[in-house]
Amino acid sequence: MLDSSSRLTGDAILSDGTPLSELIDRERREVSLRVHQDREIFELEMEKIFARSWIPVAHESEIPNPGDFVRRYIGQDSCLVVRTESGAINVLLNVCTHRGMPLCREERGHTRTFRCPYHGWVFDPQGNVRGAPYEKEMYGDWLRTCADELALTTARTASIGGMVFANWDPLAEPFDDYLGDVKWYLDAMINRTDSGLEVVGAPQRHIVKANWKLLAEQLPDGYHTSTLHRSFAQLGVFEHKVSSGINVSTPEGHTMRLVDFKATWGLEGRDDSASLADRLAAMPPPGTNAAMTEEFANNLTEGQLRLLAETPPAVMGLFPGTDLFSFLSHDGTEAGGLGPVVMVHGWIPRAPDLFEMLSWILVERDAPDEVRELTRRTTIRNFGISGLIEQDDAEAWRGVQRSTAGVMGRRINGKYAAALGIKRPEGFEGGGDVYAGTARDDAQWAWWSRYFDVMTS
Ligand code: FES
Ligand SMILES: [Fe+2]
Repeated sequence: MLDSSSRLTGDAILSDGTPLSELIDRERREVSLRVHQDREIFELEMEKIFARSWIPVAHESEIPNPGDFVRRYIGQDSCLVVRTESGAINVLLNVCTHRGMPLCREERGHTRTFRCPYHGWVFDPQGNVRGAPYEKEMYGDWLRTCADELALTTARTASIGGMVFANWDPLAEPFDDYLGDVKWYLDAMINRTDSGLEVVGAPQRHIVKANWKLLAEQLPDGYHTSTLHRSFAQLGVFEHKVSSGINVSTPEGHTMRLVDFKATWGLEGRDDSASLADRLAAMPPPGTNAAMTEEFANNLTEGQLRLLAETPPAVMGLFPGTDLFSFLSHDGTEAGGLGPVVMVHGWIPRAPDLFEMLSWILVERDAPDEVRELTRRTTIRNFGISGLIEQDDAEAWRGVQRSTAGVMGRRINGKYAAALGIKRPEGFEGGGDVYAGTARDDAQWAWWSRYFDVMTS
C-alpha cells in the first residue's frame, strides 16, 4: 500500500519503499518502465490526475436538445453529460446520493429526470433531488430542506470548438489557463469556420491492452512514424521526415506536431507567392473546401491563417488524456487517394494494463455532403476500430506493455535525451517551446515532466 501520509500531498512512497520521484531521472532524462505496470501508481494517477484535470466527455452536437444526455467516464467515475432546459451542459456524477447506485445505465438518451433504479429517488438534469417514493411517509420535509446536501456531485465544464471538457476539482486552474499557448493552435484547428464542427454519430469505442500513458506520451513522437507507420510511405500516402515540420510543447504538458504541408503531401510545385487566402483556397485544410476557407478570416488571425497554410497542426495532445488529429491520409478507396482525417480521441484508463479509447469523428456543419462523406470515410479508415494508423500504434503500445511486465523488463528505462532544445523557425508566430522538425525528445519530456510534477507535488 502507498504510504498514506504522502498520498496526496507530496512524493508517494511505493510499497517496496521506492519513492515515486525515483522513477524519473531528470538528469539522464529516463523514465522507469515500471510506471506502466504498477497498480499503486495507477490508483495515484486516478486521484491526482484524472480527478483534478480537464477531461473531454462529449461534443455539444451529441446532445443538441434539452434533456439529451450521454453517459461517459472521467477516470474510473461514470458521469452523465446532459443538456438542461436553459441550453447549458451539466456533467453529473452518475452515483445516487442516497446509497450509491448508478442512476443511469443507458449509453445515451433523452429524459426530463433520472430515476434511481434502487429506491426510486428522482433527480433533475441540474442534479437536484426532486422527489422519492412515499416521500412524506419516509422523509417528511427532509429531502427539501437538505436539497443542497443531497444534490448529485457536479463537475465544472468548459468547451472549445464544441468539445466539452469536465473537471471534478473546484480549485483546478481555469480552462483557458490549462490550455495556455495551445489555445491559439487549437482554435486554428477546430474553430475556423462560422458554424463550426459537429460529430458524425456516437464516438467509436474500443479497448487497448496497454497502459494509458503509452498513448499519451507518444503524441509528439514524430520519430516512430517512419518505422512503425512505414506501410503508409510504401503505399505512397505520406512520409513524415523528422527534419520537416515543427514540434511544439508547453509547460502544461501539451504537445503538437505541425506538418510542413508542402513537403509532406508532395506539393512542392505550389505557388507560394499567392496571398494566404488564395493558398488556403487552393489547398483547403482537412475537412473544408475552397468556399469554406473564405470564412476563416472571420474567425482567425493572420498568424493562424499562415499556420494553416504552411504548417498546420496534424497531431495535438492535451495533458493528460485528449488528442486531436487533422491531416490528409489514405481515403479508403482502392485507388488510394488522399482524404481528410478530423478526429478527437479521449481515453479512459481501466486498469494499469488496459484503457478504453473514444474516437469522435468530426465534420464541418456546413460542408457539402461529399466533403462530409470523404472526411468520415478517411477518418475511420485511419483511426478507431478499423484504423490502419491506430492498429500500427496499438501494436507498439501492447508490445511495450507485454515486454515490460516481467521482472527484468520493468527494470528498463525509457530514454528521452535526443534532439533537444529550441529551434524557432524565423517568423513563426505560435507560442510554446518550438523546434523546427517533427521529432525531438524534448516534447515527450515536457509531458513526463508535467506528469511527475502533478504526481509528486
Ligand atoms: S440508492 Fe438511489 S434511491 Fe437508494
Ligand atoms: Fe503513430
